[in-house]
Amino acid sequence: MQYPNIRSMLAPRSLLAVTHGLALGFGALAGIKSFAADGDPTPAQIAETAAALPDPAKMTPFSKQVPVIFVTRDPRKPEAWNNLKEFWNKGKVDSVDPATGEKVTRDAVFIKVPLGLNSAPPVPPENPLTEEKVMLGKKLYFDTVISSNNKVSCASCHNPALGYTDQMKTSTGIFDQKGGMNAPTVFNSGYHLLQFWNGRAPTLEDQAQGPPQNPVEMHDGKGNPWYQVVARLRKNPEYVEAFAKVFGTPPTRDAAAKAIAAYERLALTGNSLVDRAELAMRTRVEEEGEGKPETNAGDFTKVLKAAFEAKDTEALGALGLQAGKDEGKIAEVAASIQRGKELFSNKARCNSCHVGDNYSDSQFHNLGVGAKDGAWPANADLGRFGAQETGHKDPTLVGAYKTPGLRQLVSTAPYMHDGSEGTLEAVIALYNKGGNLNPHLSNKMRDEPAEREAAKNGQKAVIPRKLNLTKQEEADLVLFLKALQGDPAPDIIAKP
Ligand code: HEC
Ligand code: HEC
Repeated sequence: MQYPNIRSMLAPRSLLAVTHGLALGFGALAGIKSFAADGDPTPAQIAETAAALPDPAKMTPFSKQVPVIFVTRDPRKPEAWNNLKEFWNKGKVDSVDPATGEKVTRDAVFIKVPLGLNSAPPVPPENPLTEEKVMLGKKLYFDTVISSNNKVSCASCHNPALGYTDQMKTSTGIFDQKGGMNAPTVFNSGYHLLQFWNGRAPTLEDQAQGPPQNPVEMHDGKGNPWYQVVARLRKNPEYVEAFAKVFGTPPTRDAAAKAIAAYERLALTGNSLVDRAELAMRTRVEEEGEGKPETNAGDFTKVLKAAFEAKDTEALGALGLQAGKDEGKIAEVAASIQRGKELFSNKARCNSCHVGDNYSDSQFHNLGVGAKDGAWPANADLGRFGAQETGHKDPTLVGAYKTPGLRQLVSTAPYMHDGSEGTLEAVIALYNKGGNLNPHLSNKMRDEPAEREAAKNGQKAVIPRKLNLTKQEEADLVLFLKALQGDPAPDIIAKP
């Protein structure tokens, strides 16, 4: 059953309370010059740019709004999905205007959610997707106006052409400053339960408010960052008009965060060779009416052949193959990917953390990335532990970072939260030795039987669990990861 959405019911009121509370609390002080330094906004001014109550007369009327609707492939009746020609499809949808109860037929955009993503990214009820909102979010995403010096945009560090990353060890922000973290991909970020490597932002809307006020990313450190971003947006008539249409308000921080998040939810990647082989397997098992629902090398051979025929340079290029040249390698490559896939969920236990459609459990684990000489350095970042609220800190999460998805790895090197692993081979070598020894190593990375043996002898030790992969097995795993490479974003999403 559908519960009424308490958050969306409360949101306008609580915003009103905040705005009014500040206006009443500080309004009387507005005339006092010393209250804020010259040029600094008052708390009331800041509140007014943070959020505003919508004027329905300025919004696009319900009947003219264009909802964006995700269509995932339903295996029992795949026709609706099959019939969509592209990622972004124009169509019509019947709706009931909530204000009048009248039936209206609206234009709609139907998103063909890429194969392998069996659910749509969740959308907060207070931020429904519409075409105008997504396009406003895209404009903001690519616009350097968000940064104080007008030189940095979200796309500077999350460039769609570079797998929505910057392909740097750690990012370079405003005034060429180096940050300490590797920029994760925005692809499929709508599926994460929490955002950032340490999960400090609950949603994309919260996350998007971070960079504009970060002094090593987009802010010059002078004055109130979001007040200034909004002031710049309000000087631009195009933005004023677009925000009015979508939100019925002038540009605000609340609306800007919502629009950017709406755009990011459409940065989807899937349809990898592995997804295609899984579909081929299901079709095969159905046709044969028997057999386990597990892929075999034949399924990979089939989809590789199809990729060669279709000259799918993206999927083939990820494997280092070239159409018109490497057809002879199909059987060998198919067998290697299949072996890698089996290792992933058996001997190498990768799927104890990299699970689900996006290959992430959205949980936090310490692999020892950042550990030195068996210890967690005293001045090092504390990972998830550091981000948890006081009173809720979990000591098993020191140095633990969020499990990243694995669908664009060919485009997103270097890897890990600090960009410390340059290649997939290096990542596999790290796992093969059980991660980097440190006192906080995740239980899932530890050799618990060996630790118990040691304990019997009175030794308290953390013993990393080696995977004992052969060179061939390491190569198979790497090839499987490359076969997870998804389609790039279509131009309507990827091009400013
Ligand atoms: C200077 C480079 C830089 C800029 C500019 C930047 N980011 Fe990031 N972004 C990063 C880095 C680095 C991280 C990881 C930081 C961390 O986890 O502590 C990150 C994290 C994220 C995440 C979390 C993804 C995940 O898997 O947890 C999202 C989403 C994101 N950024 C979107 C944006 C948006 C939207 C903008 C523009 C408003 C933006 N970024 C601007 C570098 C940047
Ligand atoms: C205990 C949970 C766990 C297991 C098991 C695990 N991973 Fe990870 N994986 C993570 C976490 C957490 C990170 C990020 C760690 C960090 O940055 O500190 C990560 C990072 C990665 C990355 C880097 C991705 C990027 O975008 O930076 C790759 C590739 C990867 N894992 C592949 C694998 C493979 C292959 C296996 C099996 C051999 C595996 N993982 C096993 C949790 C796990």
